[in-house]
Amino acid sequence: MAHAWTTDRAQGLDRADEVGGARGSFLLPEGIIYLDGNSLGALSAGVAGHISQLVEEEWGSRLIAGWNGCGWMEAPERIGDRIAPLIGALPGEVIVADTTTIALAKLLGAALNARPSRKVILSSTDNFPSDLFSATAVARLFGAELRVVDRSEIPAALRDDVAVCCLTHVDFRTGEMHDLPAITALTHDVGALSLWDLCHSAGAVVVGCEEHGVDLAVGCTYKYLNGGPGSQSFMYVRRGIQGELENPLPGWLGHEAPFDFDPSWRPAGGIRRFLTSSPPIISMAALEAALEAFDGVSIEQVRAKSLSLSQLFLEAIEERAPASLVLVSPRDQRRRGSQISLRHEHAASIIEGSAARGVIGDFRAPDLCRFGFTPLYLSHEDVFRAAEMVAEVAVAAEAATG
Ligand SMILES: Cc1ncc(COP(=O)(O)O)c(C=O)c1O
Repeated sequence: MAHAWTTDRAQGLDRADEVGGARGSFLLPEGIIYLDGNSLGALSAGVAGHISQLVEEEWGSRLIAGWNGCGWMEAPERIGDRIAPLIGALPGEVIVADTTTIALAKLLGAALNARPSRKVILSSTDNFPSDLFSATAVARLFGAELRVVDRSEIPAALRDDVAVCCLTHVDFRTGEMHDLPAITALTHDVGALSLWDLCHSAGAVVVGCEEHGVDLAVGCTYKYLNGGPGSQSFMYVRRGIQGELENPLPGWLGHEAPFDFDPSWRPAGGIRRFLTSSPPIISMAALEAALEAFDGVSIEQVRAKSLSLSQLFLEAIEERAPASLVLVSPRDQRRRGSQISLRHEHAASIIEGSAARGVIGDFRAPDLCRFGFTPLYLSHEDVFRAAEMVAEVAVAAEAATG
């Protein structure tokens, strides 16, 4: 029989931890174990100082000169280049702009334009609702069809009328991860483009955009990248197809020469053509400072620690909690993102009771308890203590309801 989890055993893993559980680089409230970084990442210690420096010394002193003199114009690409290694992309393939839903609409439109003889966007029924709303609207605008099938039917639904296959890599409810390399390869076999939503992947799992030939991707930066509430999304466009893709919502900052104020559209070279509007520089400064937490850490190390934390949590919970708290995430680590979801009829009160004891997870209706693991600021000891508390709350919830 496997050894039961104890504080000592968890601390042993912390001593060997290469990522470092750098809680000190984040400003987490005392007594809180934060397992909701898959909704909103925690505040990095450097963010407030970076923002106040930008506001006072750049905006306050340099005024309009800040755009060219303080690197504001280049921020979308510069910050994109910092995200690139975290999703296995190359420099010049990622740009920070818009929000995920809008970025997705832009790249879907670009994909439909690039495959004019095909009229289908393929997606799955369990995709994030905002992605389906966005795809529905784009399909209508472009005279195309959004075809939505069960996730298991995606391979069979990949036929030669599909222009773009648009899926979320890690499912927000269960943490189940699509087989990105296999689906991307099948998508290419039928001549379609692959578009991945990496909201629950970026900064937590190994994606390998370049390695697997992913064409397009979007993702938010406020979850595992810790960019702050409502921070901008990123768009990834594989270098080899950047020239043939057009931004369907062009704007002046994606123009080759914005300050020529030329009324005819000439797209900028490279990824910059996907920009539409002025970047929100203050918010982007928060993201840029937050990304420093990844300096010196590879995404493979982050993933290894994420699996170690989530496995510990799962085993420690299953040792202690009632059998009615049921795992809905895949038990196979290779098919799981950086979260554990558990089903219980009193899920809402378990999440509420855990929060009252300092363990923050989240509830997803109707009956899911969802816990995310951010290796940059969680230790194994934190996760073990959280598992103990969630299990105690679940036992109490069960006892109270008979
Ligand atoms: C998988 C997924 N896609 C899209 C979105 C929507 O993101 P945004 O608010 O940036 O449009 C979210 C938000 O949580 C998400 O989890």
